[in-house]
Amino acid sequence: MQAEETINIAVLASGSGTNLEAIAQAIDDGEVPARIALVLSDNPDAFALERAQRRGIDTALVRLGDFPDRPSYDRAIAETLLEAGIDLVVLAGYMKLVGPEFVEAFRGRIMNIHPALLPSFPGEHGVRDALDHGVKVTGVTVHFVDEGLDTGPIIVQEAVPVEEGDDEETLHNRIHLAEYRAYPRAITLFAEGRLVIDGRKVRVLPELD
Ligand code: GRF
Repeated sequence: MQAEETINIAVLASGSGTNLEAIAQAIDDGEVPARIALVLSDNPDAFALERAQRRGIDTALVRLGDFPDRPSYDRAIAETLLEAGIDLVVLAGYMKLVGPEFVEAFRGRIMNIHPALLPSFPGEHGVRDALDHGVKVTGVTVHFVDEGLDTGPIIVQEAVPVEEGDDEETLHNRIHLAEYRAYPRAITLFAEGRLVIDGRKVRVLPELD
């Protein structure tokens, strides 16, 4: 490992938070040199907030409706994360496109996970769209976030086969299992200082003995 330091991450989640749980578990198991300093949500009913509280992780609720416009909402999130000393922002089922001000404040330090093999099937319904298209293999993509929708440089991908008789739920369940491996892996590579963004590409530096 190149950097022995433990990085501070914030997980942004709008829903159930099973990826949050998997990341927290991987950290507890000593697999990821990171600490979840904050879980932030835009949704007061997000089960992710409860998962965080059960684990004693600080939480923040930042609701779009409490701000006059989108840029001030994004600024408030960026300020909250900067004040918390966050090194890496991890989007895990965060249902808002992050605004340009937020991307700029954390450029190269925001990751997202998408339940398809990008650039195929971006957007909100990646699992359903892949299924409807009839692909035989789909998967998971962890990528850095830029101003576009699921367009940033790709860090980790894992393929997931589509099985005969799959519906959206059964396929998404199988994709989730791949997500629980891919996200801890991507966060670890970042924490070890092994990810270099080179235009559209992310180079992964070898592990040092
Ligand atoms: C995941 O499938 C992720 O790829 C997508 O939203 C889902 C979040 O699931 N962006 P969870 O809240 O982590 O269970």
